[in-house]
Amino acid sequence: MNIILLGPPGAGKGTQAAKLVEERGMVQLSTGDMLRAAKTSGTEMGKRVAEVMDRGELVTDEIVIGLIREKLEAGGASGFIFDGFPRTLKQADALGELLAEVGQTLDHVIELRVEDEALVHRIVNRAEEARAAGQPVRADDNEESLRTRLAAYYKMTSPLVGYYYAKGLYSRVDGMAAMDEVKAQIAATLDA
Ligand code: AP5
Repeated sequence: MNIILLGPPGAGKGTQAAKLVEERGMVQLSTGDMLRAAKTSGTEMGKRVAEVMDRGELVTDEIVIGLIREKLEAGGASGFIFDGFPRTLKQADALGELLAEVGQTLDHVIELRVEDEALVHRIVNRAEEARAAGQPVRADDNEESLRTRLAAYYKMTSPLVGYYYAKGLYSRVDGMAAMDEVKAQIAATLDA
């Protein structure tokens, strides 16, 4: 089963993906994590995307589609959780084509709905907790970048709701609920 977790920054995509990996043995493909790894490793691509990510803007479709292509072509797994990908209609079309090329399909697109102010609170909190624990703080985990990330979500990513609704793949869960309740709502969708 291949699924997309859709939702604005801080909605809980990464949190819920980790639970699905642990409990169902699915494979998480987070373009955000892949891009942060590229930034840290100092590759040419990493240098190119660093400033864009830190501002909270979207990296180009070509770069992220290339990252996902590499993972899918490597094969060896079924049961992908696409976390933070696709984020544009062009990426969504590309994902459909890539899955078809490797003989797989998309089964569910689950949107985590969370109010904007709760997102701001979660992201600012995450940064404060990391700082207090002496851990690295994400360069885009501040209110200014978060507002840019949110604007990008509403402008570029939210049209995917209609796109996947029309394909009969879309469901939504209440991302404002406690983490275990969100997990239960996702499980109910996947096991229906
Ligand atoms: P990415 O890494 O994908 O970040 P994001 O979408 O902004 O999402 P986050 O990782 O911040 O949040 P999340 O929804 O995973 O929530 P989490 O579980 O961490 O992308 C970063 C950047 O990379 C983008 O801005 C862009 O520049 C670039 N990029 C990535 N993919 C791209 C693409 N496809 N195209 C173009 N550019 C791309 O939870 C957040 C916090 O809330 C945590 O502290 C958590 O403990 C807490 N929390 C979670 N669930 C709950 C709950 N139910 N109740 C209370 N707190 C909760």
